[in-house]
Amino acid sequence: MKIHAHSLNKVYIQGEKRILALNNIDIDIAEGKFTAIVGTSGCGKSTLLRTLSAIEEPSEGDVFYDSQNIYKLSDRERAALRRRKIGIVFQDYSLLPTLTALENICTPTLMDNKKPDMKYINSVCEILGISDRLHHIPNEMSGGEQQRVAVARALVNKPSIIFADEPTGNLDKNSAHELLDLLLITKKEYNQTLLMVTHDQDIAAHADIIIHMDNGTIASQQ
Ligand SMILES: Nc1ncnc2c1ncn2[C@@H]1O[C@H](COP(=O)(O)OP(=O)(O)OP(=O)(O)O)[C@@H](O)[C@H]1O
Ligand SMILES: [Mg+2]
Repeated sequence: MKIHAHSLNKVYIQGEKRILALNNIDIDIAEGKFTAIVGTSGCGKSTLLRTLSAIEEPSEGDVFYDSQNIYKLSDRERAALRRRKIGIVFQDYSLLPTLTALENICTPTLMDNKKPDMKYINSVCEILGISDRLHHIPNEMSGGEQQRVAVARALVNKPSIIFADEPTGNLDKNSAHELLDLLLITKKEYNQTLLMVTHDQDIAAHADIIIHMDNGTIASQQ
């Protein structure tokens, strides 16, 4: 699936302050490619990711998946689209605190009344090195382990697009590269589009396309 967005603006109002988090962004995300988004803290990377991933409606502008205008769908249709077509790794992981790691990972599948593919889940968890943490709740895991659980959850439905917000932010260099390798392997296997926010130059260097954001705009694309 390819993503096309145009004239995206996102305004946050905080008291008297008006924050223009996205300022007239036009963007195409190529199908089947790894695109990295980089830029200084507060420049709008997470806001752009949330807007492109059908989570947060822009103040102005449209987002298309292929020819479908996703914010013209009903909330219910958009939620179903998210579950079936998209995997998201949030910057704060957003795991459900009362569920075990395995229950968290299976949630997107169960919400669709489908049966989790345990063979696939086990192989993903093996590569991520979290196989022995699956029956723990998030509070009983380290930040890096929670981050990897969030990655497994994003992959569980073998989505067309993976959105990942700093998925290696809490990992050491080795674990970060293992995670990147996993994302690149599944991307290839399922012809996924991968869009990743990262501060890590080493990780961004593996991307097909690097988008530099600055103050709510796209400063360059290479
Ligand atoms: N829900 C919100 N309410 C008000 N302001 C917000 C909200 N979310 C983001 N912002 C503001 O929008 C701007 C962009 O934030 P965003 O989280 O997208 O930045 P970022 O590039 O992801 O930063 P970081 O690298 O620190 O994660 C910032 O000025 C931020 O304070
Ligand atoms: Mg962010």
